[in-house]
Amino acid sequence: MCGIIGYIGKNVEENLFEGLKRLEYRGYDSAGMTVMRNGNFDTYKSVGEVDNLKAKLKFNEEFGYGIAHTRWATHGKITIENCHPHFSSNGNIAIVHNGIIDNFEDLKIQLQAKDKCFVSQTDSEVVAKLLDKLNVNNLRRVLKQIKGSYALVLLSKEKDCLYFAKNKSPLYVGKGDDCVMVASDPSCFAGKIDRYYQLKDGEYGKISLKSLVFYDKNDEIIEKTQESLDFNFISEDKSGYDHFMIKEIYQSRIALENIIAKFQTPELESKLKELKKLMFDRIYLVGCGTAYHAGLIGQSYIRAECNIDTFCEVASEFKEKNFVIDENSLCIFISQSGETADTLSALEYCKQKNAHIIAITNTEYSTIAKKADINFPTCAGQEKAVASTKAYFAQCVMLYLIISYLKGKNNVEKLKLFKNQIDFGDDKALKNLAEIVSKYDKIFFIGRGIDYITAEEASLKLKEITYIFSSALPSGELKHGTLALVDESVLVIVIATDEKLFNKTLNNAYEIKSRGGKLVLFTQLNVDREVAKNFEMVFKVGLTQQDFYPMQIILPLQKLAYFTAVKKGINPDKPRNLAKSVTVE
Ligand code: M6R
Repeated sequence: MCGIIGYIGKNVEENLFEGLKRLEYRGYDSAGMTVMRNGNFDTYKSVGEVDNLKAKLKFNEEFGYGIAHTRWATHGKITIENCHPHFSSNGNIAIVHNGIIDNFEDLKIQLQAKDKCFVSQTDSEVVAKLLDKLNVNNLRRVLKQIKGSYALVLLSKEKDCLYFAKNKSPLYVGKGDDCVMVASDPSCFAGKIDRYYQLKDGEYGKISLKSLVFYDKNDEIIEKTQESLDFNFISEDKSGYDHFMIKEIYQSRIALENIIAKFQTPELESKLKELKKLMFDRIYLVGCGTAYHAGLIGQSYIRAECNIDTFCEVASEFKEKNFVIDENSLCIFISQSGETADTLSALEYCKQKNAHIIAITNTEYSTIAKKADINFPTCAGQEKAVASTKAYFAQCVMLYLIISYLKGKNNVEKLKLFKNQIDFGDDKALKNLAEIVSKYDKIFFIGRGIDYITAEEASLKLKEITYIFSSALPSGELKHGTLALVDESVLVIVIATDEKLFNKTLNNAYEIKSRGGKLVLFTQLNVDREVAKNFEMVFKVGLTQQDFYPMQIILPLQKLAYFTAVKKGINPDKPRNLAKSVTVE
């Protein structure tokens, strides 16, 4: 995590600040910037959101050189001292870093023995302290000493260029006529530079207005191919909504329209045909957090439709599970950002084992999208809120369509119908429920079958943005332990969309009620009055086709989490301790 950016050109402070705003989804614990003009550094640092830096900046239109950083803390508290940039001992070199230097403790001990003083507790500062003079040879020497993941941009008082290096953390380089940029995400280039280079692991180099040199991991000078920035930059506009999260929940319908349109393009059809030709006898779905939950939905679709062994695993655990992975395996990696380090690492592991690699990403230029044999875009449009909402919806839809296609079905027409049936849930009822939820400090979500997966996703959403402890359980599991926690202080949200499992789920709900727990029901089924009496509230959504129950029922549950966060005075777009893109393992 962390976002880094370097810039050469006019209006350095303004351009770096704008870039930091676009990178803020990568972390917002602190922000910092160093600008060099006439051999002098000006440095600005602030704790908290990037906007806090603005008041400190002295904007200057003149030509200059600069680097900036927005932090998601991994090593060291959220303090000014730990803000990037970090500096060489002589103060001539400034660096910004995204990633983790795994051997920083050893290096720090060695450097301290040489009387180098550290001002921060970060791992990143060792990179700066390993340098006294910046040139390609010295950068190369440092890169051979550090281990771990890094995207680095380096600035020297003595040079009219920026140096950069990448290993396992994303980094892009763009060169325009009157400015150059290096950044964690090419969205920073939008409006300034329309072509960019994507760095590969081990690559490094230097860039000025006049020249650009790339080296590969064997220290050979290389030519790289530019890609055009086909990036529809999302506006900062919340379109009248109070937060991006609620805007993005409602954009699920647009995501669905986009997917339907995409499915009718020759480009997607050829990808599907390519996929259909592959021979495999096992399928793995891999992702983190919400993307993992979408994988579980995909797994249940595959198991229902195809007679093929299918496993879904969280990316950070995937390599530990000793799965049988070989050229007969199809591995599907799901990621909104396409940059999640755990997912990427699992992908590389499967690649080494010659598995077929499919990605389902919301960011077509991302590392995961590029490393896959076939990438299916989720077409949800950029998500800005940390909590993933429309991307989850789109991931589930994309998985559904791909699996239908593999089974020889074209379900686009069904989806068109669903588009008109989507029910986001009544705001008034959800706000009332949010008021109730906000008073609890322990909430369980339960469901059976596919509803249990929705319970997991709803629970993640709630805890992520409201900080209320919540946990999801298969309804039948309660009596095997967790029921011991149930008393009048517990609220249980029951998700029951599957008619054939409804009565069993109800029985489990009554077991909670008998022990004093309070119940809320989310369903699209008709509930008779006697049953309804057992619940504080029955939240009913409109009828849809069964295939789409999970995509339908999650929408009001996302909104419930949103309204609860708002009720508690929490900014749902930027929950504490989290970042939108998690680029460390
Ligand atoms: O970008 P990704 O989809 O790979 O991110 C995976 C998770 O970090 C992400 O889904 C996370 O769980 C969300 N904040 C949940 O809302």
